[in-house]
Amino acid sequence: MSAQGLDLAGLRRVYGRAGSRWFYTRVARNARHWGWTEPGQSKWRLWRAQRQLEDVLGRKLALPAGARVLDAGCGAGVVARAMALRFGLAVTGVDVLDFHLAEAARLSARARMGDRTVFRFGDFHRLPFDDGEFDGAYSMETLVHSYDPPRALAELHRVLRPGGRLVLLGPMSTGPLDEMEPGARALIEPYLDAMTMTGSKVYHAGNLSRLLAEAGFEVEEALDATPYYLPTSEAVYAYFRLPWEILRRFGDPAKWLNLRSTVEMYGVREHVAWYVHTAVKPSR
Ligand SMILES: C[S@@+](CC[C@H](N)C(=O)[O-])C[C@H]1O[C@@H](n2cnc3c(N)ncnc32)[C@H](O)[C@@H]1O
Repeated sequence: MSAQGLDLAGLRRVYGRAGSRWFYTRVARNARHWGWTEPGQSKWRLWRAQRQLEDVLGRKLALPAGARVLDAGCGAGVVARAMALRFGLAVTGVDVLDFHLAEAARLSARARMGDRTVFRFGDFHRLPFDDGEFDGAYSMETLVHSYDPPRALAELHRVLRPGGRLVLLGPMSTGPLDEMEPGARALIEPYLDAMTMTGSKVYHAGNLSRLLAEAGFEVEEALDATPYYLPTSEAVYAYFRLPWEILRRFGDPAKWLNLRSTVEMYGVREHVAWYVHTAVKPSR
């Protein structure tokens, strides 16, 4: 896919509208990611599921305390602070949205974690760092927004030291869009466009490991974690189906993109897989 470049206006539409900001700050307590529910646990405890997903990331990174780690697409820094607090990592977060970066810095200062979490402007296709600066890197539900996934993976590979570890977490279609059943594709494609999820049109469950290998990584594990994510989808759908219906009919649906996405994603859930890819930059 040819690089179209960063669609900042699109990302601002997704994350910057009042409805989205309310949703993420009030409902999701600043996290902009899904959750991980173990078998037998209640699906209704969304915040616990989010904390558990962060723990999964920390365990897959498997880096010693003090390791330097890049958070590619840090949002308000919830994941960065979790990695610093619970795993002792020194995290540098990049994002392209000024209001996310300001929020991340403010929340870290409030938690007295300004020394262990640093945030700066950075597009993960063109990172403002030297080669080999990091021991680890991760993308928590951000590669979906990539306008050029092979380039983003190559850039993450460049900034890792030999032996550095990469963890990618997030949703993707189970296969290529052009092989998807037409009804599902007609729902998913406009959704991906509205949400600026350009990356999801390029990679899917069938090819992300290959793209990682082509970028120079050794894939340690490609875990289909869909069963652990599905309870969050069910709970979020149950909570927001009715509010979305009301807003869609009587309000301006464009203002509530993220609410729409949580509801519409559920309708096409059998075509969506949630993966955790763990990869290593080989030592030479
Ligand atoms: C779903 S949010 C996840 C935020 C955070 N990882 C979390 O879990 O709370 C996606 C984030 O990726 C950021 N993003 C999108 N494209 C980016 C790019 N090219 N470079 C850096 N960040 C990007 C967005 O601004 C947004 O903050």
